[in-house]
Amino acid sequence: MEKEAYGCKKHETYDALMACYEKAASEYDEDVKVHRGYIGHETATERLVTTLKQLEFPEDCRILDVGAGTGLVGVELCKRQFTNVDALDASDALLKEAEKKGIYKNFFVDVLGPNQRIQLDDDCYDVAFAVGVFTLNHVKAEGAMDEMARVVRPGGLVSFTIREDVMFEQEYGYEAKMDQLCREKVWKLVSKSEEDYHSKTDIRKCYFYIYQVM
Ligand SMILES: C[S@@+](CC[C@H](N)C(=O)[O-])C[C@H]1O[C@@H](n2cnc3c(N)ncnc32)[C@H](O)[C@@H]1O
Repeated sequence: MEKEAYGCKKHETYDALMACYEKAASEYDEDVKVHRGYIGHETATERLVTTLKQLEFPEDCRILDVGAGTGLVGVELCKRQFTNVDALDASDALLKEAEKKGIYKNFFVDVLGPNQRIQLDDDCYDVAFAVGVFTLNHVKAEGAMDEMARVVRPGGLVSFTIREDVMFEQEYGYEAKMDQLCREKVWKLVSKSEEDYHSKTDIRKCYFYIYQVM
């Protein structure tokens, strides 16, 4: 299976990846949708919204789009009438692209990672949603999943994709962290599914999780 992160070139390091995002922010949407056939933002949002409706979350519930990038996920949430959405991302340039779409209420430039506390208060969202963030060369579990759970109120949801090629790579720590947070009763599993992710690369699927904060 081809090992590649964001499409402009093959990245060796996280810093190179982020530099590429900063430089090519205005080309991101076309690159991922046209050239890579990215559909993960649509399939994951559809699955999350189905669950939000089943669990009777109101359409104005507070959602944090984590790793929002240029706002593709926010657009999908708004299409489905969930419009109370804030955006958080490590890249200022990508968030400036997202701002042009006119869908997010607030923007936060912040970095998820080990020993990183993001600037948001405890329990201030109903949902934290990360699509395309737990993927090759991007964000590992340590610190990131913990912070998503921290900012969501008890009873709220933490939901994310994990790209299939890194799901079981120990260095990313996804399975271990998800199990740890279950054991510590930080969250409990609502659903796990496999969703379509790309239609034009070898990486066709992602794993998709929804957890409820306890
Ligand atoms: C593949 S893009 C996905 C963007 C968007 N969610 C989508 O589905 O189109 C990954 C995003 O994660 C962001 N990102 C990478 N590392 C991050 C970190 N440590 N903390 C916050 N955001 C990060 C990138 O800037 C980029 O916007």
